[in-house]
Parts: sequence; C-alpha cells; structure tokens
Amino acid sequence: MKILLIGKNGQIGREILKLGSKKNTVVALSKKELDITNWKSTREVITEVGPEVVINGSGYHVVSDCENFPDKAFELNTFALKNLSDICAERKITVVNFSTDKVFDGKKNKPYKEKDEANPLQVYGMSKLAGEIVAHSYCDKAITIRTCGVYGGLEGSRAKKGNFVLMIINESKNKKSLEISSEQFASFINAEDLARITLELLSKKVDSGIYHVVNEGYASWAEFGDTITKIANLPLTVVPKDRLGSFSSVKIPLFAGLDVSKIKSIGIKVKPWQDGLKEYISFLRSQNVL
Ligand SMILES: NC(=O)c1ccc[n+]([C@@H]2O[C@H](COP(=O)([O-])OP(=O)(O)OC[C@H]3O[C@@H](n4cnc5c(N)ncnc54)[C@H](OP(=O)(O)O)[C@@H]3O)[C@@H](O)[C@H]2O)c1
Repeated sequence: MKILLIGKNGQIGREILKLGSKKNTVVALSKKELDITNWKSTREVITEVGPEVVINGSGYHVVSDCENFPDKAFELNTFALKNLSDICAERKITVVNFSTDKVFDGKKNKPYKEKDEANPLQVYGMSKLAGEIVAHSYCDKAITIRTCGVYGGLEGSRAKKGNFVLMIINESKNKKSLEISSEQFASFINAEDLARITLELLSKKVDSGIYHVVNEGYASWAEFGDTITKIANLPLTVVPKDRLGSFSSVKIPLFAGLDVSKIKSIGIKVKPWQDGLKEYISFLRSQNVL
C-alpha cells in the first residue's frame, strides 16, 4: 500500500509511521511540509504523491482551545477535512480520519456503539462530528476512527504537550497525592495499538464507515490514574474526587466509553485497557523514563 501520512510528528502519526513503514510505502509529512488548511498545497501534494490511502493524523484537539478559538477548530477539523475528502474522492483514494468520544453527550452511561446518536456538548466535538459528516458525504471511501484517551511515545501528544500517563509520572516527582475525577469515565488506548488496528482495518479493506478503536473496557480517570501508579510503582496516592462535572468550564461527556464489538466482529484483536497500559509503562521503563 502507498500511504500518505499527514501529521507525522503527532502522537498517533509517529506510531503509524513506525509500524506502517514495515510493510508499506509511507510518505510522511509534518505540518511544515504540508499544512492541510492550505487547500491548494494539499491538492498539489496528493497529486504528486499519488497514494492509495491518506491517513490524516492532524487535528485541532485541545478542548479548551477549541472553545476559545472555534474558527481554528472548524478550519482544521471540518473544512480542511472537507477539502481532503473531496480530493481523495476524485482520485478514488481511501481517507482515514481520527475522531473522538466527544461527539457523544455521555448520557448513555454504557459504552457507545458506532450507530449511537451523536450529540456533542462542546466546540471540539461539534467540529469533529461536522468533520465526520463532510468526510463521509464527500468521499465514499472515508474511514472514521473514533478513539479516546490516547497515550504513546516519549513526548505524548504535540498539542497537549504530553499525555495522561506522562502527566501522572511527572506529578509523582513532586507530589505525594493527587486528586483525580472519579465521576468521569473514559476508554483509553496505547497509540501503538491504535496504529496497529488502523493498519489492520486498511489491510482488511473494510467498508467505508465509522469504527470505534480503543483498548477494551473503560474506567474513571481516578481508576486509570491509580492503575498507572500501581503498574509504574510510583510513590503517589490517587485521591478520587467527585467534582460533579464542575472541574472544567467546558462541558464534556461524563461517560465516554467506546464499544469495540464492531472491530472485534471483523477479526481484530483488542486488548483490555490494563494490558495496553502495562505495555506502555514497560516501554517507558525501557527508555529510562521510569
Ligand atoms: N490524543 C487523544 O487522546 C485523542 C483522542 C481522540 C481523538 N484524537 C484525534 O487524533 C488526532 C491526533 O491526535 P494526537 O494525539 O496524535 O495529536 P498530536 O500529537 O497533537 O498530533 C497532531 C499532529 O498534527 C499536526 N498538525 C496540526 N495542524 C496541522 C495542519 N494544519 N496540517 C497538517 N498537520 C497538522 C501537528 O503538527 P506539529 O507537530 O507541527 O504540531 C501534530 O504533529 C486528532 O485528530 C485528534 O482529534 C486524539
């Protein structure tokens, strides 16, 4: 497969590049090399590279920034995606985009399936849902991967300047205890697993559509944090705190677990979230981060 990867330096992009290059030709570009909000260069680069698949690892995804700068959120998460999908449709290219649990309002209180009704509560979720809609209406070969709680690499997410696991490790260096929300539930995934499953979906030539991809199960952020301290043997006590959803000025779904039965039904192996976490912590140990 010839893949054009956008956002090669991102948390997800780095893992797609590492794993994808083993069996495919991957032309990987940073934002400096291709800024997809520039519609003209996006068209020129895709024409020049001639990929069978475009994987879009970019996104404007810091939730509070999206609330403060909605034009930027929609510019990248929706309109750039509309342009990208349009170009891919013209050339019969499969386009893969990463979306989010935050397209849901959290009221289901059970893991969300792909067909559940979306109802985003904040600008980030709205811009990503609008991105899903334009991708699928412009390109009949679009694949949307909704994911949640991604962690990977030594630096984590570029936009978030880290990830939750790295944050807990850093906090343990100068604090004895840390309050973490107990009322907010999510799913999580090791970026390496996310890259593996993304590439498996492509090699299985799955139908265009939406796929939920996380490590199986869900937990409160407090339980996730506590599990990190136990696996990594950190001298930090997690204090579960019910903040009644009031800790942030931005509304987020209190239940954001994703159901992975669709990808399992097509033969994709999905690890429990605890196993994905153990593997990431082993990786961090191997890199002397712990
Ligand atoms: N992280 C999560 O927990 C999570 C959960 C659900 C969904 N997602 C989705 O997954 C995607 C990526 O997440 P991530 O954690 O890998 O993010 P990340 O580490 O911030 O990576 C995003 C990458 O996109 C690049 N980029 C930003 N604007 C661009 C543009 N206009 N044109 C081309 N490239 C651009 C960035 O370039 P620079 O390196 O120059 O900054 C960065 O390398 C996003 O769409 C996000 O909404 C993430």
